[in-house]
Amino acid sequence: MWLITAGPTREYLDDVRFLSNASSGRMAYCLAEAARDRGQKVVLLSGPVSISPPQDVERISVVSAGEMLDQGTRLLKERQADVLLGVAAVCDFRPKKRLLGKPPKERGGFSLDFVENPDVLSSLVALGLSRLNLGFALEDFEGTGGPSFERAVQRARIKLHRKGLDGIILNPIPQMEAEAGTAYWVTEQGEPRFLGAGQKRELAEWIVDAVLALGSG
Ligand code: CTP
Repeated sequence: MWLITAGPTREYLDDVRFLSNASSGRMAYCLAEAARDRGQKVVLLSGPVSISPPQDVERISVVSAGEMLDQGTRLLKERQADVLLGVAAVCDFRPKKRLLGKPPKERGGFSLDFVENPDVLSSLVALGLSRLNLGFALEDFEGTGGPSFERAVQRARIKLHRKGLDGIILNPIPQMEAEAGTAYWVTEQGEPRFLGAGQKRELAEWIVDAVLALGSG
């Protein structure tokens, strides 16, 4: 089974207002489709998105980072994963307090206290119930070569170690809302590999093939 985290999370301030981000979920849903096409059973653990899951892909819908972690933990304990792929754009922080109802607006502005959210991917990896663990890293660089690319690869490797991953898909920013993008494949050793530039559906196929090759290597 492939477990893929997807979409944004929402962190509610009160019963109607929330903080989130612009992730559409498209990349994760394309990956789910590409993995399914290669005969894998796929579960999408997804924050709120406006797209439907691909046929024959199971979706578990969640709202907040905390809920994504709880459901992911439950799922991994029930059925271990061959591949855990973190694609969700998880909110790094949530409001310290969630208020009840819809408090009226405060004239003249206000400030909010935030607390850090759990790192969903690294917490799930730490359970040791998934065989191959992969994540995404968005970094600021332009093409292959040059100091900014090397620094991006370095940062991706630090992330890989910190989160206990086997591989990381490195994307230049801004890619979150775009239909097309570029992906590099970074593992602990060796040169980063350019997977290609194309539509998210094409990128997904190249990524799934790289994951399958890593798994059989
Ligand atoms: N991730 C997660 N839970 C979080 C934060 C990130 O599961 N609270 C996962 C994402 O799904 C992705 C990877 O970790 O696979 C991204 O890691 P992150 O440290 O957030 O990297 P960037 O998005 O590149 O951001 P930054 O460099 O600002 O840390």
